[in-house]
Amino acid sequence: MIAITQNTSLKPFNTFGIAVNAAHFVSVTSIPELKDVLRLPGYPEPLILGGGSNMLLTQDQNKLVIHINLKGISIEKETEDHVYIRANAGENWHEFVIWCLQHNYGGLENLSLIPGNVGTAPIQNIGAYGIELKDSFVSCNALEIKTLQEHVFDTSQCRFGYRNSIFKQEAKGRYIITSVLFKLSKHTHSLRVDYGAIQTELDAQGITNTTIQDISKAVIAIRERKLPNPKDIGNSGSFFKNPVISKSHYETLKLNFETLPCYPVSDNEVKVPAGWLIETAGFKGKRFSNYGVHKHQALVLVNYGGAQGADILELSQLIQKTIARLFNITIEAEVNIL
Ligand code: EPU
Repeated sequence: MIAITQNTSLKPFNTFGIAVNAAHFVSVTSIPELKDVLRLPGYPEPLILGGGSNMLLTQDQNKLVIHINLKGISIEKETEDHVYIRANAGENWHEFVIWCLQHNYGGLENLSLIPGNVGTAPIQNIGAYGIELKDSFVSCNALEIKTLQEHVFDTSQCRFGYRNSIFKQEAKGRYIITSVLFKLSKHTHSLRVDYGAIQTELDAQGITNTTIQDISKAVIAIRERKLPNPKDIGNSGSFFKNPVISKSHYETLKLNFETLPCYPVSDNEVKVPAGWLIETAGFKGKRFSNYGVHKHQALVLVNYGGAQGADILELSQLIQKTIARLFNITIEAEVNIL
């Protein structure tokens, strides 16, 4: 029996906590059930919902919303040094990371506390503190919505980039990722502590023989200080991507904005932190009734409770226009606007 409900509130299903309704909603727990739902007539182009952590809902949704609730973690293969673990798409990302750490499997510790689910992590190649999902990714299984064929995408086929993959480009809206296969280390872990804040945090805690569990704890401490917990204040993490600009543009800006940071990208391009631009434009901590810009991290827009998605969208557009005017830089939204 497929249980489709009508006029279902999506508030519990998006970390921004926006209260809009889905005209038709179904939560699926198995691939056969998912295929049955996709075979139903009358629901072309369904909206696929994972952890709801990378979207801003600006209106009621008329499509069929399919919540991917596929659970399960299994070990597929082991070698002397590595373990291949498959996690189904509906597993909560952070709980999966913690499960790996409890088994002392290394590779995902820098990605602790990222909201969202396993199945949506490859779409934007989630990343934090010097690591991206692609670094431990082997492949993902995906169901083609039109044909119901199951496909396997390996790392090169996913064409991962900075917060980007084939699933945001050519393959957008065509597939549902059902599971992800990771390759993790069993004993010889390669620790990534070079991202400044991690080493500072480890030093502050007096940790010397660093383990993957220590790194996870450090990342959690840093994130908890800077980023609002969606359970307390609705948000979608970084609202914008960090823009890439030419070196010559950067040099010109430096004349007026001496402290503008940058990270190398290529011989003639650099990435600049959108958080810095937004803070310098005066938006950090700004509150407009029940929504605003987070006080500890300017890249995060927040819903203090009861905000409309359209209001937050309007604020994001005001920020974009101001950044364009002040710095001649276009900043792109990282979240999906629906
Ligand atoms: N900064 C400011 N003011 C702010 C925020 C940042 O000046 O309010 C400047 C500072 O110079 C700081 C620099 O920006 O040194 C970098 O800030 P941070 O380390 O917080 O990283 P970010 O570039 O703002 C990115 C990711 C985060 C990820 C962190 C850590 C993007 C869009 N965001 O943020 O990812 O956790 O690095 O690796 O790439 C997410 O994607 O949702 C997310 C939270």
